[in-house]
Amino acid sequence: MINVTKTYLPNKDKYKSYIDQIYESGWLTNNGKLLQELTKKLNDYFEAPYILPVSNGTLALQIAFRALQIQKEVITTPFSFVATTSSLVWEGLTPVFADIENDSFNIDPQKISPLITKNTSAILPVHVFGNSCNIESIQEIAHKHNLKVIYDAAHAFSVKYKSKHIVNYGDASILSFHSTKIFHTIEGGAIIFKEKEPYEKAKLLINFGISGYDKIDSLGINSKMNEFQAAMGLCVFDDLPIILANREKVFNNYLEAFKNFNIIQLQKPNEESTKNFAYFPVVFESEEQLLIVRDTLLQNNIFGRRYFYPSLESLTYLKNNQEMPNSSSISKRILCLPIYESLEINDQNRIIEIIKSKL
Ligand SMILES: Cc1ncc(COP(=O)(O)O)c(C=O)c1O
Repeated sequence: MINVTKTYLPNKDKYKSYIDQIYESGWLTNNGKLLQELTKKLNDYFEAPYILPVSNGTLALQIAFRALQIQKEVITTPFSFVATTSSLVWEGLTPVFADIENDSFNIDPQKISPLITKNTSAILPVHVFGNSCNIESIQEIAHKHNLKVIYDAAHAFSVKYKSKHIVNYGDASILSFHSTKIFHTIEGGAIIFKEKEPYEKAKLLINFGISGYDKIDSLGINSKMNEFQAAMGLCVFDDLPIILANREKVFNNYLEAFKNFNIIQLQKPNEESTKNFAYFPVVFESEEQLLIVRDTLLQNNIFGRRYFYPSLESLTYLKNNQEMPNSSSISKRILCLPIYESLEINDQNRIIEIIKSKL
């Protein structure tokens, strides 16, 4: 079976050596030594002082909303993983959708302004598949209307925008370190804050609001990263150059195969943004075509994933009746092809052949 992704597992002995350290110290969680080491590496890597690792990307979003005191309505994209919307709803906030651009698959800045009301407190864009949003336009709108910007950068580890790590834009950015991501801690995530104050607040929020010995300052939750997660992160972090280099080869091989194949639409990259080769989405002319290709791949034990599907405005637990023609259309026709650092070239060429033979 060739899956859409394959979790990167680092050298087992190296991971064991970290596990030995955990056994020796007897310290399994609550800001242990390995988590501190990983945090320092991420601080240096992103050149970001206020990075807070947490237990997963979904809670990273929720904690960011609370630390930045986001209220009422948040303008966001309907074309994302469900957690972008569900984290808002879980926090009692209302997602208001702005449709996407047909070529970049990111939120269309021109659709944001008309949706702003007195209840709007923030914009929550997603760098879809690691492709940077139109950061300048979004920032301009936010500045004009005094709104916070929280970027869902779950897909965008290692991506740089205008020579700066993309997670440094906005009032906060969040990352997912889920095992399907290029950098992972089994489960995990992080929030990167621009300012110190919400960062300090978030540190309390993820640990029950406990501010010191016998002292509880505020309402909090448990969203701490443990030492086993941090150990995995330390191992994967060291291997990032090879992970990215191998993914780049796979990505470029698909690109070469499909770039002049007009029946298939590829994501338009933001020229100012580097790539991390995390996904290879292809958009077919119709949903029927997509289903034929997906089923033929499945018959050959190859699993491409409909991602993101469905478009989030259609979630049954939402009360709003917004129509999102672009997102709805793309989500019905998009398939993410298998991509991971160890994908064999022969297998990849077989995938390309099967797809071409069905179009
Ligand atoms: C765009 C996006 N946002 C948020 C999340 C949630 O992250 P996690 O799975 O770490 O909770 C994901 C997870 O895949 C995602 O793709």
